[in-house]
Amino acid sequence: MKIAIIYDSITGNTELLAKEIAKEVKPDELLVVKKVDEEIPEAELYFIGSWTDRGSCSDKIKKLFEKLHHKRIAYFETAGFKGEDYFERLFMRVKELIPNDNKIIGHYFCQGKMPVAIKERYLKMIKANPEDAKLKVSLDNFEEALNHPDEDDLKKLREWVKNCLNNI
Ligand SMILES: Cc1cc2nc3c(=O)[nH]c(=O)nc-3n(C[C@H](O)[C@H](O)[C@H](O)COP(=O)(O)O)c2cc1C
Repeated sequence: MKIAIIYDSITGNTELLAKEIAKEVKPDELLVVKKVDEEIPEAELYFIGSWTDRGSCSDKIKKLFEKLHHKRIAYFETAGFKGEDYFERLFMRVKELIPNDNKIIGHYFCQGKMPVAIKERYLKMIKANPEDAKLKVSLDNFEEALNHPDEDDLKKLREWVKNCLNNI
């Protein structure tokens, strides 16, 4: 079986996951690990990864999905915020973007550190609205996200990859 790992990543979190997935795939089955571009290799299974961009996958991954038909897809994503319910909601949105003739064999989400500009924005907002408890939660989340993806995220990712490969 030929397997392609295609991802979009701005600051490296999703790329780290993509490279970890590649380690779990038999070398003779691994066609390519690459950042998304116009060229889509012909594979039997696609691990497709994205960073979370305003509640969905990135625009480049949206475009890739438009071109994928009759494929098996395992989807992974990193997000600044976390929580199983949150991840499921994010996945539901992404699922809507995957043409129905593809088979989704699994999905994996974990938290990923965010650019420092986001923290600076929170700090400015807190200065203007010191009573806003939600902003404080967002700031705490920013600090928490700095540790991710961590070793536990990668361990769970490896288990997920094994499951995906066993179930096809
Ligand atoms: C413009 C922008 C929009 C983002 N939107 C969200 C979002 O809606 N939800 C979320 O949880 N994280 C959001 N994030 C955080 C990133 O998705 C997260 O840090 C991710 O791990 C980055 O992945 P990368 O290192 O592969 O680029 C956003 C980050 C940026 C820069």
